[in-house]
Amino acid sequence: MVILPPDTNGIAESARLLRAGELVAFPTETVYGLGADAMNAEAVARIFRAKGRPADNPLIVHIADRKRWSDVASGASEAAEKLMARFWPGPLTLVLERKPIVPAIVSAGLPTVAVRMPDHPIALDLIAASGVPVAAPSANRSGGPSPTTAEHVAGDYVGSRFIAAVVDGGPCRVGVESTVLDATGERLLLLRPGGVSIELLAAVIGYEPAPSHDEDVALSPGMRHAHYRPHCRVALFPPCAVPRVEDGDGVVACSIEPPLSRYSRRVDSIEEYARMLYALFREADAAGVKTLHCEEPDATGLGLALRDRLRRASGD
Ligand code: TXA
Ligand code: MG
Repeated sequence: MVILPPDTNGIAESARLLRAGELVAFPTETVYGLGADAMNAEAVARIFRAKGRPADNPLIVHIADRKRWSDVASGASEAAEKLMARFWPGPLTLVLERKPIVPAIVSAGLPTVAVRMPDHPIALDLIAASGVPVAAPSANRSGGPSPTTAEHVAGDYVGSRFIAAVVDGGPCRVGVESTVLDATGERLLLLRPGGVSIELLAAVIGYEPAPSHDEDVALSPGMRHAHYRPHCRVALFPPCAVPRVEDGDGVVACSIEPPLSRYSRRVDSIEEYARMLYALFREADAAGVKTLHCEEPDATGLGLALRDRLRRASGD
């Protein structure tokens, strides 16, 4: 694996690798993605092998031009098109009907496909230069915290022969993944809270998309699997409470000054909490923390996505 700079040569080389069926990790505004040519079933299969990803967990297809969604999908409602116009490029993924030209493996065999246009100049340059839609899950090993720097990606794949290159774009701006909406039905369904809040979505479509219920699990099979977990145990505490810290524990707090511990970190806002979350998990692991006590934020705005990731990381 080589780490490439995001200059003209680095982008050209990364695009060449993608076209040749290789895997290239790249920055987006949310987290780093592990990309492959979405039209190349063999290249996409390699993503699953590289990550150790269960075969029933579908991938998001990334495009560099808002209008190109119709290369890979069909059946977007008026509401879905409004969301594209308002939030693309940005951390919003829409699940639509998959066009037959897209290999089934991209969507783990589902008749749908998830599409997003990332809001990151390097991602957009790379996708445009490659000339193909790019299938890309978060670039972590399956089950672990998503990478928000090129170093995180490199660290996750030491000794792996699957990944040709990582484009180094520095730390990601948002830090939690995109919001995933099922846009195949009459009403939009929330499959995963993320970088675009449901309050912002409601302002455009006139209602808050309902979270998918257990019966809908087949819609987003990926949500069944363990996700976002560091090696340490994650325990949650409510805002303004002080967690009971034992020897070897760590604390991440937002509303209080965290008590002294092996690894104590204060974040100043929900935005900073989201941006830093996965890096804090990784740092706590590196510090040998046994239990990381994390403040659980209110479920408003970006807090909903943050809380979802924290709860999954805690095994809840
Ligand atoms: O911000 C993001 O979305 C990042 C960056 C790299 O774009 N990507 C990302 O991908 O988080 P991944 O694979 O880690 O998560 C994709 C989520 C999973 O929960 C998956 O099940 C869901 O999207 N998904 C993908 N395709 C789907 C489909 N056709 N139907 C339902 N859910 C789908
Ligand atoms: Mg992921």
